[in-house]
Amino acid sequence: MSNIESILTETRVFEVNDDIKNSFAINAEQLAAMRAKAEQDHIGFWSDLAREKLVWSKPFTIGLDESRAPHYEWFSDGELNVSYNCIDRHLEDKADKVAIIFEGDQGDVEKYTYKELHDQVCRFANTLTAQGVKKGDRVIIYMPMIPQAVIAMQACARIGAIHSVVFGGFSAEALSDRIKDAGAKMVITTNGSRRGGKTIPLKGAVDTALEKGCDLVKKVIVYRRTDDEVPMQAGRDIDWLEAEAGMSNYHDPVAVSAEHPLFLLYTSGSTGKPKGVQHSSGGYLLNAHVTNEWMFDLQDKDIFWCTADVGWITGHSYVAYGPLSVGATMVMFEGVPTYPDAGRFWQVCQDHAVTVFYTAPTAIRALMKFGADLPKQYNLDALRLLGTVGEPINPEAWIWYHEVIGQSRCPIIDTWWQTETGAHMIAPFPITPLKPGSCTQPLPGIAAVILDEAGNELHGDEGGLLAIKKPWPSMIRTIWNDDARYKSTYFPIEGKNYYVVGDSAHRDADGYFWILGRVDDVLNVSGHRLGTMEIESALVSHPRVAEAAVVGRPHDVKGEAVAAFVVLNVDLPDGDERDALVQELRNWVSKEIGPIAKPDDIRFGTNLPKTRSGKIMRRLLRTIAKGEEITQDTSTLEDPSILEQFQKK
Ligand code: PRX
Repeated sequence: MSNIESILTETRVFEVNDDIKNSFAINAEQLAAMRAKAEQDHIGFWSDLAREKLVWSKPFTIGLDESRAPHYEWFSDGELNVSYNCIDRHLEDKADKVAIIFEGDQGDVEKYTYKELHDQVCRFANTLTAQGVKKGDRVIIYMPMIPQAVIAMQACARIGAIHSVVFGGFSAEALSDRIKDAGAKMVITTNGSRRGGKTIPLKGAVDTALEKGCDLVKKVIVYRRTDDEVPMQAGRDIDWLEAEAGMSNYHDPVAVSAEHPLFLLYTSGSTGKPKGVQHSSGGYLLNAHVTNEWMFDLQDKDIFWCTADVGWITGHSYVAYGPLSVGATMVMFEGVPTYPDAGRFWQVCQDHAVTVFYTAPTAIRALMKFGADLPKQYNLDALRLLGTVGEPINPEAWIWYHEVIGQSRCPIIDTWWQTETGAHMIAPFPITPLKPGSCTQPLPGIAAVILDEAGNELHGDEGGLLAIKKPWPSMIRTIWNDDARYKSTYFPIEGKNYYVVGDSAHRDADGYFWILGRVDDVLNVSGHRLGTMEIESALVSHPRVAEAAVVGRPHDVKGEAVAAFVVLNVDLPDGDERDALVQELRNWVSKEIGPIAKPDDIRFGTNLPKTRSGKIMRRLLRTIAKGEEITQDTSTLEDPSILEQFQKK
């Protein structure tokens, strides 16, 4: 892949200039002291931070409990409330500070102070209780990027209900699977959402999802975001504002154990079924909190904008929880980067004087294509830090982001982490010398190592499997309802409880990490994680498809594109009919999973390239998907002529 090749040959080092360095809360000596302390006393390091950074209603005495390893527990005899930590604790000195600046798709702006957010969250927490939601119940949130999504998440946390946010771009099918797996009893949604000038019906998808055997769901709360009328089922569906009428602005937050699940978030793995990643309350919030301080240096004067949707982990740790926990002001944006034109991100940065901006490499690559003149039309002088997340950033995009958006002044904070890790794991502090394409060094208290296939630690700069050797507070606790899958997926090495990430990486002579990509059957399309098996299952559920194999191919904006190889159970049609079938299959995948999973290419053959023992030779499919000559050994193939069929587009 060209990106990876250029990453591997990248040698430039960018020192952060002294003026910028001096503006950060943590200096080099303090960072060195933190690293030394974490090395000497891993559990003490995290425990001291947990006492210093969070407010506990019952202090903990146990740092790490390893008795159920690899189900690690942190601060487990302590109690706290996450919503209290994000909101109430700021009321004494920051009640009138703006917590959320919201900009809608159409440019409408609303602001919520910490006091206003508190009142709204309390009212909605009281509403949830009045509707029968109790501590431990699962609640699905299927909403666009509007403040009510954060209010709903915070209200769940306040009463100890476990939320599971489902990205609004997922289909009714995908939503239904998640509702059932979580055993949810309530869904919170909107009548519709606005994106890029279009209205997207969300309630309709909820109605369809609930027809598919989600029997536990008794109530659906609907916030009206658009003017569209939607059918409301009597006894089940309730309008948000009507349900909230008369509710008090006061709610006593429910103290829960640090280990009480705060949320489930479904993510793709190497099987067809997405996994419900279960996160804790105390440990999760600790890492979400400290990484907003460490990586983004959020101080009182900052305006932070993370562009991620609340449907992804980034929107949990860097929108819904972390920035509030540190008492920051943040921007929430409903729209898309290219509406009304490709200057929208820069307009939002300018209008709200954003100081710290966090987005994905795919967005940077897409906006780079519009040239440097467009961002130059906006005043971006307030920016002091820029972050990226979700996939490796190629040096070209890094340099553009640094020079054009950051005016060669702002450091680029490339944050490596995952849904399962809860928060940043390998990332620079704003004072760290930077190398474009490297996420630099593990955070203090994060014991990242590189392993060979047999699970032995590698100490040179050869590539291998990235793993985390010691537990950390915000790590995944289990896969919802599937402890066995949790163990086999993340702790596959016999006799060693190393968390194995699923990425390959290498570490250079300076100890800098370079992420090379996934080693499992997981694709990263525009920073969205998709399982090849999930897409294959969607394709084979189409009545005309007998077999399908899906692989990724490099794509200059999306990072990876989805290439599908399909065997039909009918004769392959010609001409227009064939084009219509390709379109039908793409729409089918969109209906089964969501538009993000639509294959970019679909090729047909009479069989898949298999070995005589029936194993699909995916590496050959990857070569074909890239449009390259096949140079690999094909002697084990059962029928080499299949390759020619697939090589024809
Ligand atoms: O492959 C890595 C890639 O995204 C995967 C995690 O995806 P997800 O759980 O959806 O979380 C994305 C947001 C944290 C990782 O296994 N990835 C994430 N960040 C980076 C990255 N690859 C390289 N560099 C990054 N900064």
